[in-house]
Amino acid sequence: MAKQDTLRPARAAGVPDPSRRGLLRGTLAAGGAAAVGLLTGRARAAAPAAGPDPLITEVQDWNRYLGDGVDSAPYGLPSEFEADVVRRNVAWLTADTTSSINFTPLHALDGIITPNGVCFERHHGGAAVIDPAEHRLMIHGLVDKPLVFTMADLMRFPRVNKVFFLECAANSGMEWRGSQLNGCQFTHGMIHNVMYTGVPLRLLLEEAGVKPSGKWILAEGADASGMTRSIPMEKALDDCLVAFKMNGEALRTEQGYPVRLVVPGWEGNMWVKWLRRLEVGDKPWQQREETSKYTDLLPNGKARRFTWMMDVKSVITSPSPQAPLSHGKGRTIVTGLAWSGAGTIKRVDVTLDGGRNWHRARIDGPSLDKSLHRFYYEFDWDGSELLLQSRAMDEKGYVQPTKTALRASRGENSIYHNNGIQTWRVQADGVTENVEVS
Ligand code: MTE
Ligand code: CO
Repeated sequence: MAKQDTLRPARAAGVPDPSRRGLLRGTLAAGGAAAVGLLTGRARAAAPAAGPDPLITEVQDWNRYLGDGVDSAPYGLPSEFEADVVRRNVAWLTADTTSSINFTPLHALDGIITPNGVCFERHHGGAAVIDPAEHRLMIHGLVDKPLVFTMADLMRFPRVNKVFFLECAANSGMEWRGSQLNGCQFTHGMIHNVMYTGVPLRLLLEEAGVKPSGKWILAEGADASGMTRSIPMEKALDDCLVAFKMNGEALRTEQGYPVRLVVPGWEGNMWVKWLRRLEVGDKPWQQREETSKYTDLLPNGKARRFTWMMDVKSVITSPSPQAPLSHGKGRTIVTGLAWSGAGTIKRVDVTLDGGRNWHRARIDGPSLDKSLHRFYYEFDWDGSELLLQSRAMDEKGYVQPTKTALRASRGENSIYHNNGIQTWRVQADGVTENVEVS
């Protein structure tokens, strides 16, 4: 039993209830589990063997008996020991799960690609189930030739493969007025990063022939919410995709199967899923999602609108409240993600002491335009309390702001576009919690 605790010290960490109260309960449990991990894990991994280890000297079941044959799982799933690496929602955030959100388990992932099965979901009317044979995409409005595409039609246009992050504008929104949710899954998990295969939107618009007066497009979904957003023509012709594959396979139902709009670097709400209609017009449509929602009320009573781009941001994914430091002092790895809607990430710095001293982190893996970047900072932990933060800088030179700086410019009423620096407090026993040092 101790073995399981060693493998997954955070399992008891009260993850379904990420509130501060849940945290208190959860971290106590995690602390206990972590201590067990400390004892068993260290003796085995780092210290010279004290005596014979039965895991080496005894024949184990997995060595004695044959495993499952091929085809026992025609579509493979993660190991049973990874059962807690799942999307989670926060029940009290929304009244109902059909118009709701869940969160990517960032604390348990590595590299830059989000596996399809754990990409967070945001639906305004539940996930539509559409037979691709019955799906149609219409382009009309200020065009020479209104067109209707079947999925088979779309598949005959030249396609491209691109990795992009999708971040909901509301990501970290619950943290505007102070630290609230206990886990980077909940504070930062409205993001995913996958490789899309799709047709450049420009090619479809060219096929229809946009009239000179066509300056905007309205994208509409076929789901029960019929969600709509206005997108400037410049962006539509630049890098938007009409995508039907993610990470090599068909889009998942939750992500808009059979086809979604990809709007690189811009807020997730514009990435219309189950895309069925593109209308070309000469001005924005002022839909719900660009007036009463996805706008930010400033201290002077005016609202910021059309705040499309997702600004430079980063977060340490481990250690974090759901991934405490279970190994004790010594060799320690800090890792996290950085991204910017303006392009690539040039630099990430990490502090261990709440911003007094900054150290340059190592970015590893592909550095792609408008994609997640993975960073690491390795150090020798002396076992004292840490105040961990990361701060990213993008290729345009934009630097992630402190939360104090953000509030100074936008006040306290915002929800969307919180790219402020996040702090995790790591206690001497490794238990980690969401705090604010700004
Ligand atoms: N498109 C439709 N048709 N319906 C929706 O509810 N939600 C939007 C956007 N596109 C939505 C939609 C929002 S707010 C976000 S953040 C992203 O889809 C979420 O994409 P995901 O579910 O793939 O994470
Ligand atoms: Co959203």
